[in-house]
Amino acid sequence: MAKINLNFTKVAQGYFSTEIAKRAKPFLDSHPGVELYKLGIGNTTEPIVPSVVAGLRAGVDKLSKRDTYTGYGDEQGDTRLRQAIAEWYGKRGIVIEPSDVFVSDGAKSDCANITSIFSDDAVVAISDPGYPVHREASVISGKRVVSMACPEKNNFLPVIPKEKADLIYICSPNNPTGTVATKEQLESYVVYARKHKAIIIFDAAYSEYVRDPKLPRSIYETEGAKSCAIEIQSLSKAAGFTGVRLGWTIVPKELQTEDGDTGTLNQFWNRRQTTMFNGASNIAQEGGLAVLSALGQKQTHGQVDYYMENARIIREGLKSAGFTLYGGENAPYIWLRCPQGLSSWECFDELLTKARVITTPGVVFGENGEGYMRVSAFGHREDIEKAVNSIRENFGNQ
Ligand SMILES: Cc1ncc(COP(=O)(O)O)c(C=O)c1O
Repeated sequence: MAKINLNFTKVAQGYFSTEIAKRAKPFLDSHPGVELYKLGIGNTTEPIVPSVVAGLRAGVDKLSKRDTYTGYGDEQGDTRLRQAIAEWYGKRGIVIEPSDVFVSDGAKSDCANITSIFSDDAVVAISDPGYPVHREASVISGKRVVSMACPEKNNFLPVIPKEKADLIYICSPNNPTGTVATKEQLESYVVYARKHKAIIIFDAAYSEYVRDPKLPRSIYETEGAKSCAIEIQSLSKAAGFTGVRLGWTIVPKELQTEDGDTGTLNQFWNRRQTTMFNGASNIAQEGGLAVLSALGQKQTHGQVDYYMENARIIREGLKSAGFTLYGGENAPYIWLRCPQGLSSWECFDELLTKARVITTPGVVFGENGEGYMRVSAFGHREDIEKAVNSIRENFGNQ
């Protein structure tokens, strides 16, 4: 007789976006045709830049000719792309071996699957608030999860738990708080991990939004990180690949664990991927090569600048309306403190019904997100401006 995985009963029934749609429905039903302004989305809205579209097209063209057609590729990724990713890090002063690079179909699946190369009894430390996939995938896989609170007084960065953790998820720039760890802060996590032979899983999905040159964009900017950190990257927010799907994970051979030899985790992830993943789309990988080219970097960074200008409009608009807010300077998310002591869901309702703006309640990212809202800078400029104006007019002077 088949038994169900009861761990699914330990996470919320639906992913948070479903819950938000459900909560907005009564208002929408009673106000048919009303225009809603969206500051809640974590999805890209602007078209892919020309040099990358050309790369994707070249990938399609190759498939149309007998001489250049390819079917299955290496599960770890196209050799040229693995090399280009290593060179991309090299330009940032970080030495990465191409054989430590595993190309993926995006960061979400790797964030979720990476725990499978660790023992079942590994204790996983998760930021609260944090990107829900880190927590929920760990719970579903049966790992024990401990929370790392990210209080305002710690710049919303995780405080390492007293209890020994084996795996530590860190996301910087952070979703949802939009804050970024400094080099010193990353160093403190690396020191902890090396001391306890723990492994940091560093989610760098928003690295390209870092504007301040003093702030790190990769965990490997920290000395010693290659012996204790796996880095997960994505081209979703950096190049508008949310629908195209491409990312990568760095699993250095230097990683040290309590019981395995160095090289074991790299070998296990290789085994996992070759067994359970059939490689990223060859078209997407051609697009990825174009993103990493000099022109691709220039154009995609220009697009990131567009979203960061949205972030500035939100920050300045809401600040002058009396809101207290954080983040949004090196990340596409702004973390807004709910005014008048409102809870996250109360604030969501107020913003929806008074200003017709959809935002994301901080509490969906963990109990320490209660009393905050995540405001997203992804969107067309005119929609962002309308949303900010509507909040200022209908919900301002807090
Ligand atoms: C922190 C973080 N990590 C990973 C992802 C997923 O990225 P991808 O689209 O590459 O799966 C997201 C997407 O929103 C994210 O916010």
